[in-house]
Amino acid sequence: MPTTRRDLLNAMAKLGGAGAVYETLTAWNFLKPPPAMAQSFELPKDSGNGQTVAILGAGVSGLCAAYELDKAGYKCTVLEPTRRAGGRCWTIRRGDRFQEMPSDAEPNPPVQECTFDDGLYLNAGPGRIPHHHVRVLKYCRDFGVALEPYIFASRANLIHSKDGKTWPLRRPLYDLQGRIAELLDHCKSSDLELPASKEELESLHDMLVQFGGLSGNGTYSNAQARAGYVKGQGPGVAFKGVPETALQLNEILNSEVWNNWLFRDAIIYWQTSLMQPTGGMDMFVRGFLRQPLRGQLGTLEGLIRYGAEAKTILVGNNGVTVTYKDLSNGNVYPLTADYCISTIPMPIFKDMTVTGVEDSFMRAAAVLPVTPSGKVGWQAENRFWEKNYDIYGGISWTNADIDQIWYPSDGYLQQKGALTGAYMSGVKATNFNPLPVQTRLNRARTQGAQLHPEFNDAAIVDHGLAIAWERMQFERFAWANSGAGAAFDTAVQVLARPQPTVGTKRFFVAGDQITYWSGWMEGAIQAAWHATCAISSNACPKLP
Ligand code: PHE
Repeated sequence: MPTTRRDLLNAMAKLGGAGAVYETLTAWNFLKPPPAMAQSFELPKDSGNGQTVAILGAGVSGLCAAYELDKAGYKCTVLEPTRRAGGRCWTIRRGDRFQEMPSDAEPNPPVQECTFDDGLYLNAGPGRIPHHHVRVLKYCRDFGVALEPYIFASRANLIHSKDGKTWPLRRPLYDLQGRIAELLDHCKSSDLELPASKEELESLHDMLVQFGGLSGNGTYSNAQARAGYVKGQGPGVAFKGVPETALQLNEILNSEVWNNWLFRDAIIYWQTSLMQPTGGMDMFVRGFLRQPLRGQLGTLEGLIRYGAEAKTILVGNNGVTVTYKDLSNGNVYPLTADYCISTIPMPIFKDMTVTGVEDSFMRAAAVLPVTPSGKVGWQAENRFWEKNYDIYGGISWTNADIDQIWYPSDGYLQQKGALTGAYMSGVKATNFNPLPVQTRLNRARTQGAQLHPEFNDAAIVDHGLAIAWERMQFERFAWANSGAGAAFDTAVQVLARPQPTVGTKRFFVAGDQITYWSGWMEGAIQAAWHATCAISSNACPKLP
């Protein structure tokens, strides 16, 4: 009997397992090699050759820089003022403690301790990964960080309007779509001079019927129940579904819900799909921390000196000297290296003693526009949003200072869950964040109750935590404001330029703060790649 390909493959499988089968198929050209990874990154092998790098800050950018440099043969030391790696990428769980800095309204902020049940957590910083953040996803893939869907928008989420109405989001959204379609459809019979032919207007009509859920004659009444049912459907004529009454156009316009929230999921970074690491965003940080070092025993975490607060930076011709305070004993030590990457947030960096960089550099540091932001976390004893509101993940929106309520995208149907009871930035954060913790929690409760009365009941919702990122001693901002226009452009133009600008480049600023993905881990990684490439070849790669 002749040997078939199948026989041969079976024999290969016995000998060498799936890998051998794969190799064989590839050799026969039956399988093409896997397509190039969405993003790949590798510094020239051995370019480090034992040169030293001081990295200031063990957040995502600092860890990524340390990881890539170590692989290329650099010797890195990471100085981190806190006792924890990750920076703003922080998942708060039972037993975690923190204390904000004083504000006028709260001269003595309390130490807050998380008392959530085991297994529940608050992502105090980043909480979602867009599907196009290919660099973050590359590391998740490389490190085996498990991801699950993060629901940004559920049509069952609530929206609380300026004029005090609370609607499931599907109502203003689809009713507005229907009403606009209805209005536009008048074009076909209007005497207006329109830049469209009669045939085009006919197909516009056909499109609008689909777009808005109109009847054939061009009227909208929520007949398809896109905006929901008053009474759902079931067996027999007694259970013929009754669609909600369609909202009038002026009712939606007056509510102003279109002004801020209704179209959020159209913004590129919030477009579906988004993801989150299973078990908390800090799983991403842990991915870096556990990577083995190249030239010595131990893992990347072993490069970090915790409790080490950088105080001064001297950029010289032959190297960089950083002095840092060991916060456990108050002593100040020098650290000298061939290169230095600082991820220190600009609100802190701008006041440091930095010598050997251009004046314009420190001026840019001082004027980089930044954003305040705060969150409140709660533990809920029962998942009332699922049982009483059919909400499974997503965000509810309100004009009140809490701005947003995030429902967990995991643990569906379990007994308990953690809620993000407030997430605001900008003006709302400026109002909310300086308040004493207890006041913030009381407000978050009252404002949350405008959407869900369950918030009023401490037996259902409690264990509150409030965090204001600009009041965290080693952050002092939530993110740089890349939406600030020219002020941001001109500052990052300077800050992204290695120093000194003539001769060997020795000093680099990293962190999401100098990128147009500021406020995102993707930016932290882009900046780390930018700095490490500049070190290894004194040239910067294309940053797409
Ligand atoms: N990435 C954060 C978020 O999605 C912060 C951010 C918001 C950054 C808006 C830029 C723009 O909420």
